Amino acid sequence: MLAKLVINETKKKGTIAPEIYGHFSEHLGRCIYEGLYVGENSDIPNVNGMRKDVVEALKELQVPVLRWPGGCFADEYHWKDGIGPKESRKKMINTHWGGVVEDNSFGTHEFMELCSQIGCKTYVNGNLGSGTVQEMSEWVEYMTFDGVSPMADLRKKNGHEGPWTVDYFGVGNENWGCGGNMTPEFYANEYRRYQTYVRGYDGAAPIKKIACGANVDDYHWTETVMKTCFDHTPEEFHGFMDLLSLHHYTIPGTFAKKKSATEFDEADWYETMKKAYYMDELVTRHSAIMDQYDPDKKVGLSVDEWGTWFLVEPGTNPGFLYQQNTVRDALVAGVTLNIFNKHCDRVKLACVAQMVNVLQSVLLTDGEKMIRTPTYHVMHMYRHHQGGELLASEMSGVNKTGPEEFRVPAVTESVSEKDGVITITLSNLSMTEAESVDVSFAGKEEKEIVEARIVTGTDCHDYNSFEAPERVVETDFTGAEAADGGFKVTLPPASAVEIRVK
Ligand code: AHR
Repeated sequence: MLAKLVINETKKKGTIAPEIYGHFSEHLGRCIYEGLYVGENSDIPNVNGMRKDVVEALKELQVPVLRWPGGCFADEYHWKDGIGPKESRKKMINTHWGGVVEDNSFGTHEFMELCSQIGCKTYVNGNLGSGTVQEMSEWVEYMTFDGVSPMADLRKKNGHEGPWTVDYFGVGNENWGCGGNMTPEFYANEYRRYQTYVRGYDGAAPIKKIACGANVDDYHWTETVMKTCFDHTPEEFHGFMDLLSLHHYTIPGTFAKKKSATEFDEADWYETMKKAYYMDELVTRHSAIMDQYDPDKKVGLSVDEWGTWFLVEPGTNPGFLYQQNTVRDALVAGVTLNIFNKHCDRVKLACVAQMVNVLQSVLLTDGEKMIRTPTYHVMHMYRHHQGGELLASEMSGVNKTGPEEFRVPAVTESVSEKDGVITITLSNLSMTEAESVDVSFAGKEEKEIVEARIVTGTDCHDYNSFEAPERVVETDFTGAEAADGGFKVTLPPASAVEIRVK
């Protein structure tokens, strides 16, 4: 069957927040240490301790926002341990992740330096699980207050005269689990209390506050947190909670019995696609609950942990969550980002987990070596959607693919326009079949392809390694040809494609 994609370029459906293309970095395995930060005295080329190769690759990716320090680590993190002279910072055990020594050499100053080198917004996740209101409040004062105060003076003493901008502040992480095992009622009341002291100081850029949202399909959590926090007039509500988070990982198998990142069969492939595609239902249903309390969609959904979660690479520390990244991951990224684009009225921020060396990373490092993963190349291709206007687009006649149990649409899409150029991204979820799509435009004006790119492999198991770093890359796509004022596109199996027209 030939699928049809009709794009109505006259119908704009809202702006795709650049922050949908955000990233997450936790003190976990080799994400921060080695992946991003090697210290000023390292032989690995660095600027103020940040790896030059990594920062360069992230700048090319146009990373809009970075979340730190966790994850589960956030609700055990006491920010004062990570400031002041490095030699006197506390050394401790990272109990959550691998039981290794955390020397706190990467703290608030280093995070702000990293974001400034990348040129991205800052998302700091506070500790509600094991920290106090005072501690959270003082962290915000330390980072953002421009004046005379105990915390601003301490910041100056530690070498940073002026305040930084904290764009987003998370009030706890996964407080239904590692962040304190709270009930939604308890968390929502704690949120109300803690967020009160996440002050917006005069002259400081406004901080967007993010409440801890649901684990996957825990709709009761969303309902309860919204209800408890929305016991305010809508006017008061604004600024009280700017976003509510949602975490969903794509885990073929079960959490306890995960599967390999690189060795998978057809059933594993489609199970992965189905679980990734489930994001659409999750966003739709959580958003519908939020609509009851916030019909104007002032509160965004922040899907600040998404991605694949497989078995760790053989021989690596199980607590480090280091996994390879194949064409399958590229497709998970393509499908997920299309979903976020299409829900840009509600999804205002999202972070792939995690940036380097952990879970579905965009970069992997091995000592001084660094490689870009297939996921990197998809996110790079999709960067043109950042800040674009979502266009109305409708697919019909789409084949279904995969075994009964894991059936998914063979093709997903999203379309946006920025600076007069329309960006169409398509993903073919079929592991073995090419899919054809007839693309037409309601506006009827003839369009010309200005750029067409593809990420795929010669085999869907392909991945980049330190020996073969460019097996899966972004290349020119030649499968689109003009037809009746639109295009006929032939998508190879297991491929993510971008076509830009004007
Ligand atoms: O990303 C790994 C972990 O997954 C995070 O620390 C936690 O928030 C989630 O459960």
